[in-house]
Amino acid sequence: MKKIISVVGARPNFMKVAPLFRAFQQYRDIQHLICHTGQHYDDRMSRIFFEELELPRPDFYLGVGSGTHAEQLAGIMLGFEKILQSEHPDLVIVVGDVNSTVACSLIASRFLIPIAHVEAGLRSFDRTMPEEINRLLTDALADYLFVSEPSGIRNLQKEGIPQEKIFFVGNVMIDSLLYYLPKIAQSEILQTLHCQPGEYILVTLHRPSNVDHREELKELIGLLREIASLKKIIFPVHPRTRKKIHEFSLEDMLPANVIITEPLGYLDFMQLVQHAALVITDSGGIQEETTFLQIPCITVRNNTERPVTVETGTNRLAGTDPAQIKQMVFETLSNLSAGRQEGQPIRQESVKTPGSKDSRIPELWDGHAAERIAKIIYEKL
Ligand code: UD1
Repeated sequence: MKKIISVVGARPNFMKVAPLFRAFQQYRDIQHLICHTGQHYDDRMSRIFFEELELPRPDFYLGVGSGTHAEQLAGIMLGFEKILQSEHPDLVIVVGDVNSTVACSLIASRFLIPIAHVEAGLRSFDRTMPEEINRLLTDALADYLFVSEPSGIRNLQKEGIPQEKIFFVGNVMIDSLLYYLPKIAQSEILQTLHCQPGEYILVTLHRPSNVDHREELKELIGLLREIASLKKIIFPVHPRTRKKIHEFSLEDMLPANVIITEPLGYLDFMQLVQHAALVITDSGGIQEETTFLQIPCITVRNNTERPVTVETGTNRLAGTDPAQIKQMVFETLSNLSAGRQEGQPIRQESVKTPGSKDSRIPELWDGHAAERIAKIIYEKL
């Protein structure tokens, strides 16, 4: 029997580990355990995802919570060290690029426990992003690097990672999206928010570079005001962003036709993505989900570590200059209304079969990435 511990910490990790959990259930001689660091701890940032994604209660919960980067990283390392000392796993799996990813990789490497990194090789080449540092360090430590898009292979090769450690397997986040589409269709969020498919723009903003400074955040909220005069906006607000809006006293700037919600669960949120006219975001994963669902996406960042979403998918990088973002939003909306009638349901029909000839869906984003990963790991262990 081989023992594997998969690490989750923050919201974007849960939908990446869920398909891995299912894939490992097919292997009787693998014991797959889940360690939740508690980096995200609110019900709406964590517990709801376990329920909706049908994940079991984590086998280990470190309860680190929020804090400075140093506090968070150190807390995770101290907690994870104890788990590794008592459990002696044969492999640690880390996903994505959050603080939990790098902290657990560092400790596993000290115990000489092999590390698998799922979503390896992505690079924004912007070292001011904490995630970029997390990605670089984790990939330098990992023994198995599972890559979701071709740029990942090139980046790892350039960094001198040996070819035999690199595996192009596809995208586990898209595994989840495909698997849960029937449940996503049952969400009642559109009725709850009194919205029709295609009549709204969905907005998410949480990157420190966009929300942690008053001027930048004020400009972005001013931009939302302007856009909202054209089209309804739904804005589920991340705890970091909510805190900053409050701290900078910007609440009153948000007009009534911006529908503000708490952070949403996976099923509700994905239904909103699926039926949005347009998504405006600074998230990494949402660039991929909109690409797969063929929903136009405008990314409020100067770079992306997921270039396939721009080259092949529906994503456009707008930078962070409000005038430029506004122009791109107006362009996209006028292209859309030229292409279809306002208020008509959109996009549902355009979810193309992966691999079909005219597919603009990136290679291997086919719902089977986690199965490929589990098979490779099983053979290697
Ligand atoms: C983290 C990840 C980021 C990811 C994002 C998704 C890092 C460096 N960043 O950023 O890559 O895109 O998660 O959400 O790992 N908070 C709560 N409740 C929670 C969690 C957080 O209120 O359950 C608040 C706290 O005030 C905290 C702040 O949000 O200080 C930020 O949380 P943190 O985990 O530091 O980073 P995120 O901004 O969420």
